[in-house]
Amino acid sequence: MGIASESPAKFLKNLRAARPYYRDFFLPAGVFLLLMIVFSVISFAQFLFILFLLIFTIIYILSRLGEKRLKDTGVISDLIYNIRNNKYQSADEIKLPPELIEIEGEIKTLFLRTQNDIENLKKLEQIRTEFLGNVSHELRTPIFAIQGYLETLLSGAINDRNVNRSFLVKANIHTQNLNNLLNDLIDISMIESGQMRLSFRYFPLAEFLENLVSEYQMGAQKKNLNLVLKEIRPNLQVFGDQTRIRQAIGNLIQNAIKYTEKGEVEIYVSEENKLCRIFVKDTGIGIPEKDLTRVFERFYRVDKDRSRAVGGTGLGLAIVKHIVEAHGSKVIVESKWGGGSTFSFTLKK
Ligand SMILES: Nc1ncnc2c1ncn2[C@@H]1O[C@H](COP(=O)(O)OP(=O)(O)OP(=O)(O)O)[C@@H](O)[C@H]1O
Ligand SMILES: [Mg+2]
Repeated sequence: MGIASESPAKFLKNLRAARPYYRDFFLPAGVFLLLMIVFSVISFAQFLFILFLLIFTIIYILSRLGEKRLKDTGVISDLIYNIRNNKYQSADEIKLPPELIEIEGEIKTLFLRTQNDIENLKKLEQIRTEFLGNVSHELRTPIFAIQGYLETLLSGAINDRNVNRSFLVKANIHTQNLNNLLNDLIDISMIESGQMRLSFRYFPLAEFLENLVSEYQMGAQKKNLNLVLKEIRPNLQVFGDQTRIRQAIGNLIQNAIKYTEKGEVEIYVSEENKLCRIFVKDTGIGIPEKDLTRVFERFYRVDKDRSRAVGGTGLGLAIVKHIVEAHGSKVIVESKWGGGSTFSFTLKK
């Protein structure tokens, strides 16, 4: 398209779009003219003619460049508009003309990234809804039970010596469960929102485990289980947040006792170079293979009814996983349905 066939407005618009190139043209042209004046090799008329020709050519070229630039930015903005309005199903539908091929790859990557982010947001939204559903369900169970016992007591059972005390004891157990659930939920939300501040220190493992295990002896005895702590090298020091490690191993021991009917629960330690591995092993019901990876999910229970009957909400192992990962380690579980379970993780020493 020549200058003559363009409307002056469009010509000026193109010229404005070529603004980024002005310097590249006018600077060398200025130098060229300056040289011509300095050497004065030609007559004034010739000089004016060349000057006119030069300016005309530059303006013409700039207008063409501006036109090209507007076309390219138009293509790119159409593409962005289409992406924004979800016009593309896949990255392959994104096509740019050959002169813009350099940015096609980048735009495709950006498109895939955005798609990925949206997918993740949708998943998060689903997890959030599921989480809320689970929480309300878990809260409802003890609240209904407490309500039931209190209503029965109020409507006369309070004077029935055969049941009044046992109803109160049961209601009390459910309030404890409710309290445990709320504490676990607070922990989970603190950990997941990154508010859990760990304070890492060296501490003596043998003494720490002796104290911890003794807290669970009563619970084990009630079920006729042997709770054994194998000998640990006396001066073995490990690095971690004692309070959180106590909570993690405590949860593992609680599970081991809860899901074992016969036999023993054993806590032992092995040393590997700069690490030491802590094991909690039981001879209990075990975990089916298909559930092994899922038991660390929030609210996941292999046998919901059985677990709830023993006061479980399925948050224990999710908390253990978070704590252990915050220590740069990973929980490993080995188990067989009916053949006991062993949970272990490492700490730096
Ligand atoms: N030692 C174990 N032996 C057999 N099954 C286990 C063992 N530890 C965990 N599980 C299974 O994994 C599930 C999840 O364990 P987790 O500790 O997260 O929840 P919970 O014990 O049911 O409840 P919570 O710990 O929140 O009170 C349990 O419901 C149980 O089915
Ligand atoms: Mg548990």
